[in-house]
Amino acid sequence: MGSETSTLPARMRAAQLYEYDGNLHVVELPVPTPADGEVLVRIAAAPINPSDAMFTRGLYGTRRPLPAIPGFEGAGTVVGHGGGAAGRALMGHRVAVAASAGSGTWAEYVTVAASSCFPLLPSLSTEQGAMLVVNPLTAWALVDLARADGHKAVVQTAAAGQLGRMIVRLGQRLSVETLNVVRRPAQVQLLRGLGARHVLSTHEPDFDARLAALCRELSATLAFDAVAGDMSARVLRALPRGGRLVIYGALSEAPCTINPGDLLFGRKRLEGFWLSDLFQASRLPTLLKGAVRVQQWHDPDFISTVRARFPLERAPEALRAYAQDMTDGKVLLVPGDAAVAA
Ligand SMILES: NC(=O)c1ccc[n+]([C@@H]2O[C@H](COP(=O)([O-])OP(=O)(O)OC[C@H]3O[C@@H](n4cnc5c(N)ncnc54)[C@H](OP(=O)(O)O)[C@@H]3O)[C@@H](O)[C@H]2O)c1
Repeated sequence: MGSETSTLPARMRAAQLYEYDGNLHVVELPVPTPADGEVLVRIAAAPINPSDAMFTRGLYGTRRPLPAIPGFEGAGTVVGHGGGAAGRALMGHRVAVAASAGSGTWAEYVTVAASSCFPLLPSLSTEQGAMLVVNPLTAWALVDLARADGHKAVVQTAAAGQLGRMIVRLGQRLSVETLNVVRRPAQVQLLRGLGARHVLSTHEPDFDARLAALCRELSATLAFDAVAGDMSARVLRALPRGGRLVIYGALSEAPCTINPGDLLFGRKRLEGFWLSDLFQASRLPTLLKGAVRVQQWHDPDFISTVRARFPLERAPEALRAYAQDMTDGKVLLVPGDAAVAA
């Protein structure tokens, strides 16, 4: 391995799953050795996202062999490589990493393919860089999907989350009106504070009728749903004839209940979106270009609010804290002495 060997310890701390039961165990493991084409990244921060929370319980689209280290993204410094021009070029650089099938980012060190690293511009903090891949690239892809088909307005659910807010801000920049669906009054205020013009909450008794009326008024025939369960049915019902519902999350953890009449007689369509597929389908230069653009527009479009920072030792507590209040912001795992739980 090409590395700063003098500064690398032999062992590291990591949060690990023995079963897909949601229970994290903080353990000591050997620092992994990068294979050919891989780099070793010293992690400075890694967020807990809904996908991670689902992964820990075996509810996500991929699994890693047990015992497994969770964490799909993070940021840090490249401190070693297993060979290859890309790995050598990345040495010493701050990067955001996308960790997929192999090991996760909830550890002091992770090995990832050099092609899964996105160098961070000097203008971006490492902490924000840790949240650069999953949400910003998804917001980018979803708004792009809307624009590619000429949509001037889109419906989105879970709109007060970090990704929802990115879609609101990106929509404002790119002239795609958002019809934002939330579930609490405080979330209505939060989005109005961002300048969102249309915010509807499911706690309001006339929610369904108002959503349908607004979809008609703004000719919104495309919707992004991260909630699933009966939310998918309600949004699909509200869309005008020929509407298209893209499901990209399952926060309710419930199966979608769809009225077949909407598909049969309303000529409406239902599909899924998974960033992982975009990674598979896109060429590396395209992804790198996207990562650079996202960083250039980061402030304010792609900023994530951070609610708390926990040291790795407190990863189980961090996971519980995140689940208790998602809208208030991301919970970060911060290996090393800098960790301060807010
Ligand atoms: N398909 C992909 O490739 C992809 C990529 C990135 C993200 N995603 C998905 O995007 C979604 C949002 O991610 P995020 O990082 O923005 O999450 P986040 O910042 O944690 O926010 C989640 C938001 O959803 C709300 N919420 C949670 N459970 C809900 C429910 N059962 N019904 C209605 N609202 C609910 C939360 O409100 P409360 O505070 O009221 O709980 C919060 O406002 C997640 O489902 C995630 O998996 C998918």
